[in-house]
Amino acid sequence: MLHRWRVITYMEIRAVFTMGCNIMMLEAMLLVFLMISLTICSTEGFQQQWPVPYKRFDFRPKTDPYCQARYTFCPSGFENGSIPKMKDEDIIDVYRLQAPVWEFKYGDLLGHFKIMHDAVGFRSSITGKNYTAEWYELFQLGNCTFPHLRPNMEEPFWCNQGAACFYEGIDDEHWKSNGTLVPVARMSGGMFNQMSKWLKEDNDTGIYYETWTVQEPTRAKPRVWFESYDCSKFVLRTYQKIWELGATFNKEIQTNYTRIFLYSGEPVYLGNVSSIFGPHGNKSLAEDIRMFYTPFRPPHSFKEFLISILAIYDEVVLHKTFYLFYNFEYWYLPMEYPYIKLTYEEIPLPSNKHV
Ligand SMILES: *[C@@H]1O[C@H](CO)[C@@H](O)[C@H](O)[C@H]1NC(C)=O
Ligand SMILES: *[C@@H]1O[C@H](CO)[C@@H](O)[C@H](O)[C@H]1NC(C)=O
Ligand SMILES: *[C@@H]1O[C@H](CO)[C@@H](O)[C@H](O)[C@H]1NC(C)=O
Ligand SMILES: *[C@@H]1O[C@H](CO)[C@@H](O)[C@H](O)[C@H]1NC(C)=O
Ligand SMILES: *[C@@H]1O[C@H](CO)[C@@H](O)[C@H](O)[C@H]1NC(C)=O
Ligand SMILES: *[C@@H]1O[C@H](CO)[C@@H](O)[C@H](O)[C@H]1NC(C)=O
Ligand SMILES: *[C@@H]1O[C@H](CO)[C@@H](O)[C@H](O)[C@H]1NC(C)=O
Ligand SMILES: *[C@@H]1O[C@H](CO)[C@@H](O)[C@H](O)[C@H]1NC(C)=O
Repeated sequence: MLHRWRVITYMEIRAVFTMGCNIMMLEAMLLVFLMISLTICSTEGFQQQWPVPYKRFDFRPKTDPYCQARYTFCPSGFENGSIPKMKDEDIIDVYRLQAPVWEFKYGDLLGHFKIMHDAVGFRSSITGKNYTAEWYELFQLGNCTFPHLRPNMEEPFWCNQGAACFYEGIDDEHWKSNGTLVPVARMSGGMFNQMSKWLKEDNDTGIYYETWTVQEPTRAKPRVWFESYDCSKFVLRTYQKIWELGATFNKEIQTNYTRIFLYSGEPVYLGNVSSIFGPHGNKSLAEDIRMFYTPFRPPHSFKEFLISILAIYDEVVLHKTFYLFYNFEYWYLPMEYPYIKLTYEEIPLPSNKHV
């Protein structure tokens, strides 16, 4: 059964790649889009910033009791999220950790999807102790990608918080056996302590998970409309931070990450929950958004998540529409070929960008 499903999904993915595409028409459409948006910008004297900055919050709100995690978040983390202090003169090795997403029990699907989870490892030379830092969903990936449509609630309800988890130990076997465990950088204990401070602030202000990267259809220099905010972005921010603090990186290592793309023309801002839903909302738009999310209830397993991604693909190709929830606001995406794509591509270590 599982095997049959794999073949189907693989063929669907193949279909995405082999589907014809009229490049010239696409370019012409983009040009029109560009001209329209330029006109709008100049008449309103307002320049939309792309990608839309991910919103930072003053503090992390309590999660709604409706959201129930299937797996406890950060079970072995330090009690109060505190990160141990290192001696300034300590030498800390930094590891790139990557493994197939942990809910993933379908080993041989991996070759086609390469959905990897990223984390960072640290090892103190003085104590010999090691640590893992990762950033992930409080209520699993499906809940961060698809909202709940609740009977007595007009607006879609999201259980989409994500957070950092810092704990003692590196589970070598877990990362190594189907993934990666390699040293990528080295820094002092003092730098580590500064990083810890940053990490806590980052954790308190960046509170929700975003699965999708949204950009123009692939061209030489596509404009990115929205950046994802996920485990790999946390790792990239951490690398960037320790690089700024003075860590030295091993330039030899190739670092690839999973990204899930949506391709669209210039997004249109629709409004927030209160301006779309509720008594003073826009009834027809509210209905459209509900309808859009109806087929994609938050899945209960990772397999269901993949099926939902494929279902969303069909839906998007048919209607060329996606309603994106970002910064707790809704955007309309005029979807374009190739619509949705999963990639596993390199984003170099910070040192490589600056040589
Ligand atoms: C998603 O959230 C719902 C509601 O809290 C919960 O019942 C479900 O188990 C969550 N999904 C997963 C995969 O944990
Ligand atoms: C957090 O817990 C650790 C022990 O796990 C303790 O050493 C530390 O003082 C606590 N920090 C705060 C701010 O409570
Ligand atoms: C990040 O925030 C979550 C949720 O409040 C908390 O459980 C976790 O301990 C925090 N992690 C760190 C490293 O501060
Ligand atoms: C690695 O993948 C194999 C084959 O899919 C699986 O049997 C094994 O449990 C995986 N190892 C870990 C640590 O998850
Ligand atoms: C981390 O520490 C554990 C326990 O001492 C050890 O088994 C493991 O090999 C260490 N891993 C790394 C990458 O240092
Ligand atoms: C939602 O948008 C409306 C109108 O743009 C604005 O007045 C209101 O403050 C916003 N609400 C929130 C919670 O951001
Ligand atoms: C409701 O939203 C749709 C789609 O954005 C828009 O075309 C329409 O003008 C809106 N209606 C009102 C009354 O604002
Ligand atoms: C990693 O990314 C590079 C460039 O983005 C690509 O050429 C390479 O095939 C990728 N490696 C894997 C294992 O997919």
